[in-house]
Amino acid sequence: MPLDRLSDFKSFKPGMNKPIRKAIFPVAGLGTRFLPATKAIPKEMLPLVDKPLLQHAVEEARAAGIEDMVFVTGRGKRAIEDHFDTDMELNKTLEVRHNLEALDAARNTEIEPGRLFYTRQTMPLGLGHAVWCAREMIGDDPFAVILPDDFILSDTPCLKQMVAHYAQVGGNMVAVVDVPRDQVKRYGIVDVAQDQGRSVVVAGVVEKPNPDQAPSTLAIIGRYILQPDIFKHLERHRPGAGGEIQLTDAMAQLIGLQPFHGFRFDGRRFDCGSKIGFLEASIAHALTRTDMADNMRTLLRQYGRACGQ
Ligand code: G1P
Repeated sequence: MPLDRLSDFKSFKPGMNKPIRKAIFPVAGLGTRFLPATKAIPKEMLPLVDKPLLQHAVEEARAAGIEDMVFVTGRGKRAIEDHFDTDMELNKTLEVRHNLEALDAARNTEIEPGRLFYTRQTMPLGLGHAVWCAREMIGDDPFAVILPDDFILSDTPCLKQMVAHYAQVGGNMVAVVDVPRDQVKRYGIVDVAQDQGRSVVVAGVVEKPNPDQAPSTLAIIGRYILQPDIFKHLERHRPGAGGEIQLTDAMAQLIGLQPFHGFRFDGRRFDCGSKIGFLEASIAHALTRTDMADNMRTLLRQYGRACGQ
């Protein structure tokens, strides 16, 4: 019988279902796939229509009740700091011009003073290492990790759905989607102990397995809720798949000791780390916006005709 509820676990500590108030955003990547656009602009600042990927991620965090945002950055990421800062001069100019819509858009980027933390990942050693770099800011609290490259369109933001489920089961949780078997090599893959439909009890996780060795076709998507105990395992700096320090490997160490669930969220995920995924996300996002949907649909019909459909 797989372990499920918090009380099933010998290592249960009060606090393993403490509310999630902190989130880590690993944003140190070089973005080489998007060169030349990313030569001087961080890839997380590339916009879906008019809003940078990272701002979409921050808004998702806010909607889930996150108060403290921790950005793990690297060289060449200063535009991120400017974006989330208060620009008094810009705000004043927009106020004087009575351009309230633009003022609202500008102000929406601001994060409350003292709630935004930066740390640098000085070497590109992998996602596990990036998360470890934020350990002092997280301390002894459970936290979320959001990978801004994974854009998720949904009625209820993905992390908010996860937080609601976490309130019932506690412990650790990853967002998962079913992928075709020939794509498992791109993801962390979950070994399922018990499939409860919306939620699965996780028996193991493996990073980027070969299709013939993957324990399932359930892939981890870039939304995590983790207990601080993960830092003990990340600290070992043991390289895994691709020679990188993998978050997946550290998560594997927690399984069996703490609750660990995969969560099939409602919504569609777009891989904005690939050019075609990014383009598709831009279109899908535009179609959800009242200011653009009609024009976008007309445009798509025209292109559909041009493509002979
Ligand atoms: C990372 C994780 C992987 C996860 C993926 C989701 O991989 O290591 O487990 O499935 O994000 O996007 P990356 O895409 O950074 O190679």
